[in-house]
Amino acid sequence: MPIIRFVKDIPEIAVEAGANLMKSLRENGRPVASSCGGQGICTKCLLSVIKGNESLSKPNQNEIDLKDIHQFPKGMRMSCQVRVEGDVTVDAPYW
Ligand code: FES
Repeated sequence: MPIIRFVKDIPEIAVEAGANLMKSLRENGRPVASSCGGQGICTKCLLSVIKGNESLSKPNQNEIDLKDIHQFPKGMRMSCQVRVEGDVTVDAPYW
């Protein structure tokens, strides 16, 4: 079972392999910014992947296109577009 860990003093979360990152965080009481409800439009759900980027699904075409348009900083992923396949550590500035 993949584990989502945090940089700050926040309890880790165990999720099913293949679980959506944003949905998993929200279901476990961790807020994730969004104004599109996870439809891959607003890019407000960006999170920093501190460790375990290889444990996340590869960016889909939508994420690749928006990354090009908005020039996401390195290491940022659109959490609503990402599936968790293994252990990962993530962070958001508002946590
Ligand atoms: S929640 Fe809007 S793009 Fe991810």
